[in-house]
Amino acid sequence: MKLISANWKMNLTPSQSVQYLQKFLPLVEDVRDREILLCPPFTSLCVAYEILKDKEVKLGAQNCYYEKKGAFTGEISLSMLKDLGVSYVIVGHSERRWIFGESDELINKKLTACLEEGIRPILCVGERIEEREAGLTFKVVETQIRLALSGIEAFTDSIDIAYEPVWAIGTGNPATPEDAQLVHAFIKDLLYILNPKHEGRTRVLYGGSVNPQNASHFMAKRDVDGLLVGGASLDPEAFAKIVKSF
Ligand code: PGA
Repeated sequence: MKLISANWKMNLTPSQSVQYLQKFLPLVEDVRDREILLCPPFTSLCVAYEILKDKEVKLGAQNCYYEKKGAFTGEISLSMLKDLGVSYVIVGHSERRWIFGESDELINKKLTACLEEGIRPILCVGERIEEREAGLTFKVVETQIRLALSGIEAFTDSIDIAYEPVWAIGTGNPATPEDAQLVHAFIKDLLYILNPKHEGRTRVLYGGSVNPQNASHFMAKRDVDGLLVGGASLDPEAFAKIVKSF
């Protein structure tokens, strides 16, 4: 099933999140043929869980730590997230990589921990503008995926991947659907190379300046299995339009 996900980033307090859900849920009540995922900040997970418990809309987290528990001040474990009904975690978002210095090694540990805990990770990959201009898009994406999946290649079917070109995030300048399709097809081929037993269950999402106007153009592409939406997901009406746009 296609996966349309919202990444709220560091936006919306718990009370604003409740208001959001009150507006959003009636708008998508009749949606059955696609999976809808909301990834609020950690502080809103609790209230969102209470509201979403008996709903089809899924709850995700934007980050996690890989250790099970202990002296890791400020970090959140996967069992804590699971207890709040979280079924997906975004791992390796470019803001984590480039603002908070997350390494491929750390991302690999987080993915491994997600698989152990039975939470489905959404691995984010994507090239920066200078890499794109140097013709390195495919190489960068391949390296990020190979390093992220190192040692866990047998579990490709248990993760989803978001292709998010860094230069397209929050800029209003998305990739073209044609360019996204090329990278998505490349990622899918790579998964079969990494895991000869791969069954094709990984959904490859596009992210980067998706809005209600362009969403359907991405979704029309063969290898675009969903979207990861930042800015436009903060408006419940805009996000509902994206969810229903194809
Ligand atoms: P954007 O962000 O939709 O605001 O470009 C996407 C993301 O960072 O996941």
